[in-house]
Amino acid sequence: MKPKVIAIANQKGGVGKSTSVYNIGAGLALNGKRVLLVDVDPQGDLTKMLGQRKPHEMPVTLANCMNNVVAGDTGRDHPEILHHKEGFDYVPGNRCLSAVEVSLVNVMSRETVLKRYIDSVKKDYDYVLLDCRPSLGMLVINALSASDYVLIPVQADYLAAEDMTELLGTVAQVKRQINPQLKVGGIFLTMTNDTNFRKDIVQAVRQNFGQHFPVFQTVIPSTVRLAEISTADKSIFKHDPHGKAAKAYADLVKEVQGIGEKQRGKPFDIGR
Ligand SMILES: Nc1ncnc2c1ncn2[C@@H]1O[C@H](COP(=O)(O)OP(=O)(O)OP(=O)(O)O)[C@@H](O)[C@H]1O
Ligand SMILES: [Mg+2]
Repeated sequence: MKPKVIAIANQKGGVGKSTSVYNIGAGLALNGKRVLLVDVDPQGDLTKMLGQRKPHEMPVTLANCMNNVVAGDTGRDHPEILHHKEGFDYVPGNRCLSAVEVSLVNVMSRETVLKRYIDSVKKDYDYVLLDCRPSLGMLVINALSASDYVLIPVQADYLAAEDMTELLGTVAQVKRQINPQLKVGGIFLTMTNDTNFRKDIVQAVRQNFGQHFPVFQTVIPSTVRLAEISTADKSIFKHDPHGKAAKAYADLVKEVQGIGEKQRGKPFDIGR
């Protein structure tokens, strides 16, 4: 299949972006897909979750690749691509990305540096997932410019309409000015506390955003099992395979695999 590049973005911190990138990636790999996860966040949280305890000491990361693109070289050997034991590849990220983000100010075509790197590696994959930092700065613009779709995790008890409007505005702007391909693949709720309220919350999100954007059916529950992932060196499918979080992420993975499939309806267009 043609590779799909998907950014997971929300400028609000701690809504479950990195946790979702890891588990969606692991779930896609379990379903036989070829997957590359890319840590586009200077915090290096995804890199840590994937078992690299000291991301800031890693010599070869996404930062090197972006610097190489700026210097006119997308590379051939790709020593930055590492293999994870759960059957997917990943490109680590660390705080050097902050310096890259600052330096992009002086670079021509600064919004598409990451895209040029991703375009050089994506042919080997079905899915490339980009974990974004909690901001709407140049690294996130780069991730959106490189992507076919953006997934937006929203924390269930924090339905920040203003934040969402700002994020969706940025998405629309990137689509208009840089990347006409870009679509919202889906908004999904994370860290819901009480499953009894699930329907109400989903309905509220649908009312606010559902007219213009797809809202996934799946809701990710709040559970310590998922919080444990960050130090367990395992995805939820290995850590607690029969628990509700594994079931939820398996369902979410199915919805992600449905993105762009005609029979499931077209992802909504934006910013016409
Ligand atoms: N569904 C969940 N239930 C309980 N804890 C969760 C859940 N999802 C993530 N967490 C925990 O919440 C914290 C934030 O999650 P995560 O790092 O995935 O968010 P993020 O959006 O990537 O954060 P940032 O904006 O800083 O990059 C982490 O400690 C994580 O282990
Ligand atoms: Mg994160």
